[in-house]
Amino acid sequence: MESKETKLWRVPDEKAIDEAAKILKQGGLVAFPTETVYGLGASALDEEAATKIYLAKGRPSDNPLILHLARSEDADRYAVVNPCYEKLASLFMPGPLTVILPKREIVPRSVTGGLSTVALRVPAHTVAHRLIAAVGSAVAAPSANRSGRPSCTTAEHVLADMEGRIDGILDGGPSDFGLESTILLPEGEKAVKLLRPGAITVEMLEEAGFSVTLDKAVTERLSDGETPLAPGMKYRHYAPKASVILLSGSEEALSSFMISKKDLPDVAFLCYEEMKEMLTGANAISLGPQKNAALMAHRLFSALRELDEKPAIKTVYAPLPSRQDMGLALYNRLLKASGYTVIKL
Ligand code: TXA
Ligand code: MG
Repeated sequence: MESKETKLWRVPDEKAIDEAAKILKQGGLVAFPTETVYGLGASALDEEAATKIYLAKGRPSDNPLILHLARSEDADRYAVVNPCYEKLASLFMPGPLTVILPKREIVPRSVTGGLSTVALRVPAHTVAHRLIAAVGSAVAAPSANRSGRPSCTTAEHVLADMEGRIDGILDGGPSDFGLESTILLPEGEKAVKLLRPGAITVEMLEEAGFSVTLDKAVTERLSDGETPLAPGMKYRHYAPKASVILLSGSEEALSSFMISKKDLPDVAFLCYEEMKEMLTGANAISLGPQKNAALMAHRLFSALRELDEKPAIKTVYAPLPSRQDMGLALYNRLLKASGYTVIKL
């Protein structure tokens, strides 16, 4: 890939956003902040621009992109809207939610990886909102990381992965949630299938009267030949250079296992705040208090990037988190980072 100059707008003011929108309209690529993670945007109606995203990310072209809209009402232009979408939109949009709908002709095949459906999301971030509104049509954007790396939660992460490969980066500071949006497939007026867990949780959906089924790929490794409903779920995302091994068992079993490994120079831990003291002297990164899954989710991708900067570390142990609330999203991302390697103690 030919190297190009990547412009970094440290202050994403009106002028910067207008400049970025102009680049998108001319077929360029610009990374922008959202409340979940940074996205790598291209004009969704420009077949060629969407193709450039796959090249810049090194992403397999069968993995479709999400269309980012300024308003949930804009969905009708790109997809066949149903009552389930309307209900979800009224409750959770703008917000960290992506909904799959049958696509309309206007959406190029390269954006949907050849699928007859399209993923739609309305980000709740002023910079993202103003950028999409300035472009005047949908912005296709996957997460702004190089394929196989953890998603980017700061402009620095985007720069590290994408400098020389894209036209610009709007810096909006650290992402609020730090994990990608919840992806839902409507299965009836008040029934959805969860394809990827995120900050709109199963509990929140059930509270709002939806029945929720989990796609198998959320909690289990698929066997060869099985295809997940969200094509991206089959890839081993978020894989740090070291092997990640998850630990499941009682508090005592976890403690004695971790203490037995803590002095090994090639071992690190992604642990709960409560375990820090026990692991004094070890390579241990605390994600946050065990009960605060949202905070742990927020820190996970930075922690995985930090581990990649320590070449001596060959193995990373982490406790398997609870699946409650935001815990399910953390559980899912850790499982994927580990390639589904869990030791039962
Ligand atoms: O929070 C987010 O969703 C971020 C920000 C930038 O909006 N975006 C993001 O995009 O995570 P990406 O490309 O990293 O993940 C999109 C996921 C992939 O797993 C993809 O397979 C799935 O959405 N997806 C896209 N279109 C789909 C479709 N038509 N049917 C099923 N899954 C789809
Ligand atoms: Mg991604």
